[in-house]
Amino acid sequence: MNTIEALHTRHSTPRLCEPGPDNEVFKNICKSAFSAADHGLLKPWRFLIIKDQARYRLGDLFLQATLDTEKEVSQEKQESVKKKALRAPIIIITIARHSIHPKIPELEQNFSAAAATQNMLLAAFAQGVGAMWRTGAMAYSRTVNEGLGLTKNEKIIGFLYLGTVQGSPKPLKENDIDDFFQEW
Ligand SMILES: Cc1cc2nc3c(=O)[nH]c(=O)nc-3n(C[C@H](O)[C@H](O)[C@H](O)COP(=O)(O)O)c2cc1C
Repeated sequence: MNTIEALHTRHSTPRLCEPGPDNEVFKNICKSAFSAADHGLLKPWRFLIIKDQARYRLGDLFLQATLDTEKEVSQEKQESVKKKALRAPIIIITIARHSIHPKIPELEQNFSAAAATQNMLLAAFAQGVGAMWRTGAMAYSRTVNEGLGLTKNEKIIGFLYLGTVQGSPKPLKENDIDDFFQEW
């Protein structure tokens, strides 16, 4: 798939299954993060790879985070919270790593980490790997952040779920360029 085709047709895949991408394909996805636009070339990111048994540990952490904030959590909800970490064979967690810089605010460093995540989404799609970027309460949970070992200057930008596409893709919506781009 060429670059323009990938850019014009990329879409997310909420339903993913085994197997995960093979090693070479996965490395291509990881490597794509590094060409993200990056003011000052700060590389304001790091990534955690969650696979195999680590997914179960992540599920336990999600559950702990939920129990820490909610008074009563039904058994059903507890199971569904844990299962979130099993939605895909591999999850890449993008973490923005902020440094203090006179010209480059934290916000821009988040933008770069987000751009890196989008690059990985595209690299996955272009290679036929299903992918979905998620955040939700778990991304902003103190319990999850601490459990993953984030420091005070770090923030979760997203969970990038990767795996084999399940089901058929939703039809792409056509956008009219003129609705969003106007000459000034
Ligand atoms: C920062 C960020 C966080 C997101 N978090 C979620 C999420 O938690 N749950 C969800 O269903 N979609 C989430 N999305 C949206 C999906 O990743 C996806 O982009 C959206 O469903 C549109 O589908 P498409 O990528 O196929 O256009 C998030 C997107 C971004 C950029």
